[in-house]
Amino acid sequence: MLQTIPQLRSFAQSQRQSGKRVGLVPTMGALHEGHLSLVKLSQEQCDTTVVSIFVNPTQFGPNEDFAKYPRTLENDLRLLETHGSPAVFVPNAAEMYPNGFDTSIRVGNVALPFEGAIRPGHFDGVATVVLKLFLASQADAAFFGQKDFQQLCVIKKMVADLNVPIEIVMGPTIREPDGLAMSSRNRYLSPDDRCRAAVLSQSLFAAERMIIRENIRQAEAIKQKISDHILAAGGMTIDYVSVADSLTLRELETIDRQTVILLAARIGAIRLIDNVLVENAV
Ligand code: PAJ
Repeated sequence: MLQTIPQLRSFAQSQRQSGKRVGLVPTMGALHEGHLSLVKLSQEQCDTTVVSIFVNPTQFGPNEDFAKYPRTLENDLRLLETHGSPAVFVPNAAEMYPNGFDTSIRVGNVALPFEGAIRPGHFDGVATVVLKLFLASQADAAFFGQKDFQQLCVIKKMVADLNVPIEIVMGPTIREPDGLAMSSRNRYLSPDDRCRAAVLSQSLFAAERMIIRENIRQAEAIKQKISDHILAAGGMTIDYVSVADSLTLRELETIDRQTVILLAARIGAIRLIDNVLVENAV
């Protein structure tokens, strides 16, 4: 297990010097099939995979669940051992943010709406820690889930704007059998709420069918349908439902290009996000 930045740097450097392509999978631990699918993708595309596990304090707001975020390191390490034994980087907070740390990466427009509007500073924390991981590992490729689509857009933009020499690869969202996107926060849902939560992905899939099969192109009609669908299940409040250009994340009135439909909802104290890409909306 690698615990310091110099350890990670020299490990990754030695791998690259022996001609190996290094893949990085950044995580906050509490690993599930979603994370493991990214590990697998990296192992398919790279010779050496590094999984980082770090619950990054700077991406949590003051009233968010940093203290309560699940920490299951022993189980995570066991899981990784049975999934190809990638190298694991587990720094502590002082390693990532030593006393006096005073720099932040702020990505512009793609970081502002949706999660950025509801969680001020969140993407600054994400971009800063992810850039540190990219620089420390000098990985050739890094793997992120579609589940956090806006995060992926933010990281792609940072990499493009700052000329970071790394390939960003998106892995598909891994779902429970009823369609709920896997998330470390799902474990906090009561059995009733867990049942209800399936409506989130179901409403997105229904919207996708409306667009593709019924050729409904007005974003407003799609958003309304999704909201109605979710609210009919009861017990949920909606933070946002948005229909946006999947490259710029600008909201669309008419679905006439590559489109992403994103939503966030709260069930009790638990906040869940999901999205679908409507690839052939053109
Ligand atoms: P975390 O929530 O642990 O997620 C780590 C990676 O797993 C992210 O790329 C996320 O999109 C992906 N992931 C989560 N659930 C998934 C699912 N159901 N299917 C596919 N991929 C899934 O995202 C973070 O951590 C942090 O913000 C991080 C990037 C590590 C920076 O701290």
